[in-house]
Amino acid sequence: MIDSVVHLLRCPVCSRRLAVHEHALRCSAGHSFDIARQGYVNLLTRTPKGANADTADMIAARDRFLSGGHYQALAARLAGLAATAAPDDAVIIEAGAGTGYYLGEVLTAIPGARGIAADLSPVACRRAARVSDRIGTIVADTWAGLPIKDAAADLIMVVFAPRNPGEFARLLSPGGRLLIATPSDDHLVEIRDRLGMIDVRPGKPAQLQQSLRDWFAPDQQEDLKTTLRLGSATLADLVLMGPTAHHRKDDLEQRIAALPAPTAVTLSVTLSVFRRR
Ligand SMILES: C[S@@+](CC[C@H](N)C(=O)[O-])C[C@H]1O[C@@H](n2cnc3c(N)ncnc32)[C@H](O)[C@@H]1O
Ligand SMILES: [Zn+2]
Repeated sequence: MIDSVVHLLRCPVCSRRLAVHEHALRCSAGHSFDIARQGYVNLLTRTPKGANADTADMIAARDRFLSGGHYQALAARLAGLAATAAPDDAVIIEAGAGTGYYLGEVLTAIPGARGIAADLSPVACRRAARVSDRIGTIVADTWAGLPIKDAAADLIMVVFAPRNPGEFARLLSPGGRLLIATPSDDHLVEIRDRLGMIDVRPGKPAQLQQSLRDWFAPDQQEDLKTTLRLGSATLADLVLMGPTAHHRKDDLEQRIAALPAPTAVTLSVTLSVFRRR
């Protein structure tokens, strides 16, 4: 619910504090942002150019795939690391939270914690807002900066989503942690070429460290690797929930039909924890 985190938010126009006023969040200068029926608040002041918010079809595919528990191992490790990195009453921000699946799992592991799910996609936010009473969900742009007050969070999570290190440093309390999940080289290796998936070059852990080093020091790192066995409908969801969906995939069904059923697919992710300097 947005009420649980409203004291941490600030007006995206003038940076004043926001408060719940009827069905909106308002600042003392009169800027007002409606609370959507589903409970999230759109705090974007303009739609960013060239940004890749997930579409409704992508979010539906992501929701089906994640609800099927196929990335449960990843959710469990994120929850384990978050529980060690954050205090019991932590404020946790997930930037690019999508459907809120991972933040929901993390909050289940830390019953005293609260979360802010931020995503550029209003469709994603609609789902994330339903995940837990302890999550407040906002439509916001990680690149432009999140309308959240300085040092508000104990932990920021970013799972396969854009990063803005300087902004994350501003949002974290001193000694706060940043938890990042990035795909490893062999992630989904069996299907990437065969299903024409767009290769998001993960970048080596050393490059990640380099990009963060002005603000963050490495704290902990682990690799998660497991084999998934996926049927054809689930494979289609896995392709269509990612950036490949932004492009036409006319022959996807045909390509999937040429794979064994079920198909063994490697889930391979690097989980990195950084400490704010
Ligand atoms: C690959 S998805 C990952 C979603 C979620 N973390 C998960 O793993 O299920 C990337 C997410 O980042 C969001 N996104 C893309 N650009 C963004 C931006 N500039 N600011 C905030 N979110 C953004 C997309 O809408 C999408 O939900
Ligand atoms: Zn304002």
